[in-house]
Parts: sequence; structure tokens; C-alpha cells
Amino acid sequence: MRRPIIAGNWKMHLTLSEALALAAEVRNRCGRFRQADVVVAPVGLHVHPVAARLEGSTIAVAAQNCHAAAKGAFTGELSPAQIRDAGAAYVIIGHSERRQFFGETDEGVGKKGRAAIDHGLVPILCIGETLAEREAGRMLEVVTRQLDAALAPLTPEEVADVVIAYEPVWAIGTGRTATPAQAQEVHAAIRRRVAEKTSPAIAERVRIQYGGSVKPDNIATLMAEPDIDGALVGGASLEANSFVQIVTGALGAESN
Ligand code: PGA
Repeated sequence: MRRPIIAGNWKMHLTLSEALALAAEVRNRCGRFRQADVVVAPVGLHVHPVAARLEGSTIAVAAQNCHAAAKGAFTGELSPAQIRDAGAAYVIIGHSERRQFFGETDEGVGKKGRAAIDHGLVPILCIGETLAEREAGRMLEVVTRQLDAALAPLTPEEVADVVIAYEPVWAIGTGRTATPAQAQEVHAAIRRRVAEKTSPAIAERVRIQYGGSVKPDNIATLMAEPDIDGALVGGASLEANSFVQIVTGALGAESN
């Protein structure tokens, strides 16, 4: 059985005091769940203080992006080594907002994933088609291209430990969730492709999150699909109640 992983992507939201308060509430209300990985992703500036606030708890921290180089003259960037040193265990890579607004390429995502692993971070590799691509019938072609590029620099064993986030761009921040069946179709295709590129055993181990307007009222049906192993949550992760309800809904646990 794959261990569920629920991550909250806080994007460019929250002051430091708001981030610390939210982290503390997530820790207090989700810390008892040992059967899942719960992750929060504050802005880079807040990774260290949030990680310090969560130290000793089961809640992990992710950065939202990294540079591929270990260090160097790259003004404004954060290296994977620095992110690891600041207390994060994960880094989100290739989020569609980064692809759309900051020129991230498939090849760049591959390099960043490689660098993340080299510095002890688990990459959460984001892939997903736009509405135009879906409507043109190119959904699986696009997702496969992005996936192949992200996995190409990795060994099969490394692939087993990455997290893949399938996030259809048309569902992000729009309130328009993929139906569980739509998500499952792509998740199954992703797992098949991982099997082709590595082995069926590795594909069985890799965790695939769904992202795009995940809310307390749709998480349970998404998680009921066989190839959906968790969620990458944007808007609904900014408020403790809804994020905790998503975590408990994903696990079939009681909310508190
Ligand atoms: P959303 O964002 O939940 O607000 O749609 C998801 C994401 O961008 O990871």
C-alpha cells in the first residue's frame, strides 16, 4: 500500500506570523496521523521558521521551487542545499504557475528534480495539461512529455521515491475539479508510463497526488480512486479548518 501524502501549497500568501500560526494549528490537529505524510509549503522566506515551528512533529515542510545549482551567482534564487539546510524535506518542482509565469521548461524541471535528490530533498514533480491541450485531445501526450522529461535524469530507484503531482491547469484555482474518473484516467496513464520507463514494481511504489481545486467535500471521492495517493492543495490549504478536513477526509479519519 502506498502511504498517502497531502501537501498544502501556500503559494505567495501569508505573513510570517500567519504562516507560523497555521503551521502550529496543522501540527496540533494533524500531528496524530502517523499513517500519512502531511506537508506544508510556505514561501521560501518562511521555510526555516515554519520548519523550526514544526520540529519534532510529523508535519514536514516543502519549498515551492529551487534552483538546479548547489550554489553560485544566481541572484534571487534558492539552492536545494540551502532549502534542505533550512529544514525542508520536500520541494515542489515545475508547478504550472512556474511553467506559465516564470518560463520553466520540461528540461529545467528534470534538472531541478535531479538536484533536489542530490541534496536530500524529495521532489514533488508537477505535470498537467491546459484546457486547450485537453480540448485538442493532447492531454496524455502533454502529460507524458512532461513526465518523461522529469524522470529522465533519475535512476529507477530514485523514481520510486519521488512524488508526482498531476495538476490539470484548468482545475487550479478555478473551483473546477477534475472528476474522480477524469483524474484516475490520467493517474493510471502516469503509472503505466512510469512502469514502462522503470519497472512495474517501481510504478507500484511511486505516489501520485492530484491537485486542482481539492476541497473537503471532494477529497474522499478522489482518494477512493486506485491510483490517487494524495493531494496537492492550494487555496483550501490556507485555512486550518479546510486543510485539516482534507487530511482527515483523505484518511477516512474523524476531524477534530
Ligand atoms: P488550488 O491549487 O487547490 O487552489 O486549485 C492547487 C495547486 O496549485 O497546487
